[in-house]
Amino acid sequence: MRILHLSDFHLRGDGGLSFRVVDTRECLETAAKHLRSLEQRPDAVVLTGDLADSGDAKAYGMLREALEPLHLPVYAVPGNHDRRDRMRDILGPWCPGDPAVAPCLCYVVEEGPVRLVMLDTMQPGSHSGHFPEAVAVWLERVLAARPGAPTLLFMHHPPFVTGMGAMDEPFENVERFEAILRAAPWVRLCCGHMHRPIVTQWAGCLAMTAPAVSMQIELDLSPEGGDCFRMETPGYLLHHWEGGLWNTHVCQIPSVPSFSGPHPFVGSVNPVEA
Ligand SMILES: [Fe+2]
Ligand SMILES: [Fe+2]
Repeated sequence: MRILHLSDFHLRGDGGLSFRVVDTRECLETAAKHLRSLEQRPDAVVLTGDLADSGDAKAYGMLREALEPLHLPVYAVPGNHDRRDRMRDILGPWCPGDPAVAPCLCYVVEEGPVRLVMLDTMQPGSHSGHFPEAVAVWLERVLAARPGAPTLLFMHHPPFVTGMGAMDEPFENVERFEAILRAAPWVRLCCGHMHRPIVTQWAGCLAMTAPAVSMQIELDLSPEGGDCFRMETPGYLLHHWEGGLWNTHVCQIPSVPSFSGPHPFVGSVNPVEA
């Protein structure tokens, strides 16, 4: 079972450059071309948010157009740059949110022997991660339904501290989230938002973030670090379930990166739903 985990496309529907530097349409086309060329076909593709840069409708249309020809199941959760209403309207089958936690787009995919638990941590207008009590109750119930099953828990915001100060904002209700995971050590936590691969152990679970399909955040472990990006090689994670193990591979998207940077994150807004 091969699950491709892509994150942080930051697409603009107006053809402009994201953060005044990044041609994210080109990044998407490069990624889609690479995925089409894979000899070992994945079983599903998971997108962990920041699909659009400012939640614009055309961006979601571009994403659908690029990934539909793969003829693979695609599952998505929103990030802080997304709009749930537009994801629901344009990417509907990719984010079939459980009505029990509406408007959050949380749902479970039973994919053969494995489970994909998709958790929405976005709150409109906010940059940081959110975990309201209704979602906590939902997650607790979902994880208890199949204890010990090989489970990937996908969400945009990492709940753990990364050491990149500007990105380490408080995660709402984090003690509650930690307690839920401590009771479910079979879960692997798979996040986006950080635009670079990080692996840690948190709340008794293996936890990680995916590199971005677009720009990578500059590796800066100072208190102010995380507020700039660099045009490094884009990438994604491949979670491979085989012989009772999840092996996670950090994969590169073939391209000719300029390595320009560091560039500041400016010229983009976090959208608020109408
Ligand atoms: Fe992002
Ligand atoms: Fe983000």
